Amino acid sequence: MLSDPEFGRILQKFDLSWEGYRRVRKGVKKRLRRRWVELGLTRVEDFLAALDEDPALVDECRRLLTVSVSRLFRDRELWHALKKEILPALAGHDQIHAWSAGCARGEEVYSLKIVHDQWQRRGGSAPGLEILATDLNPVYLAQARAGVYGQSSLREAPEDLRPDYFEKLPGKKQYRVIESLKEGIVWREHDLLSDPPPGRFDLVFLRNNVLTYESAANQVRVLDGVMTGLLPGGFLIIGAKEELPRAAAGLQPWPGLADVFHKKE
Ligand SMILES: C[S@@+](CC[C@H](N)C(=O)[O-])C[C@H]1O[C@@H](n2cnc3c(N)ncnc32)[C@H](O)[C@@H]1O
Repeated sequence: MLSDPEFGRILQKFDLSWEGYRRVRKGVKKRLRRRWVELGLTRVEDFLAALDEDPALVDECRRLLTVSVSRLFRDRELWHALKKEILPALAGHDQIHAWSAGCARGEEVYSLKIVHDQWQRRGGSAPGLEILATDLNPVYLAQARAGVYGQSSLREAPEDLRPDYFEKLPGKKQYRVIESLKEGIVWREHDLLSDPPPGRFDLVFLRNNVLTYESAANQVRVLDGVMTGLLPGGFLIIGAKEELPRAAAGLQPWPGLADVFHKKE
């Protein structure tokens, strides 16, 4: 197992936050160590030197450092607010354009689709919804496209919604989202640190990734980029335990919700 100081040196190399990784470091260390042994290396110095010489190893290591922990309807209060306040605030649009930035295995993407579908089923004239779901890690994106989840991923999903949106896989404790839920979603590889925002959106989800794991300087840089991708009147949603690195011009906290911000018209 890597020691904390060794792990700290790798985080430093990638400009990542020790505090952000504090609670999840065990699993990440294991992954790194496994790769390290495969490469026949024994010391952190050798691994850092190998990174200096091999850009492909740098990319691979960045992916190994990503944390994919998520759940459908993670932070239940947010999904209630989306249903009651945030989506209705966008009701005048023909189409709602949403971006799930750092979507991992798609849990928040399908949660949004379900809340939107429920809105449409309640009748009235709910606008359509298009979602661009992006992540640095193509392995997570492939799993997101498949839309198969274990019971633990579903533990925050309201029980009464399950029969309508999930099919149990025969002989397994796994559930697959119904095919129609996959409509209107584009999955794409995208790096928040180096790629420009992939469009302009009414809703941007930037939850439990950059604002937790990146250095303060990178958080500011990413937030500036994300802000250019957020349309006036749109909403930025961050993780329940996260904070914005600084007040972003034009963004106002949404009353009663610490993780939702509204961009002035
Ligand atoms: C913990 S998951 C969060 C998933 C979901 N947003 C949520 O809150 O439940 C973090 C995801 O962010 C992705 N990620 C981390 N850094 C990224 C970056 N620079 N660009 C794009 N995605 C990134 C990781 O690959 C991972 O899938």
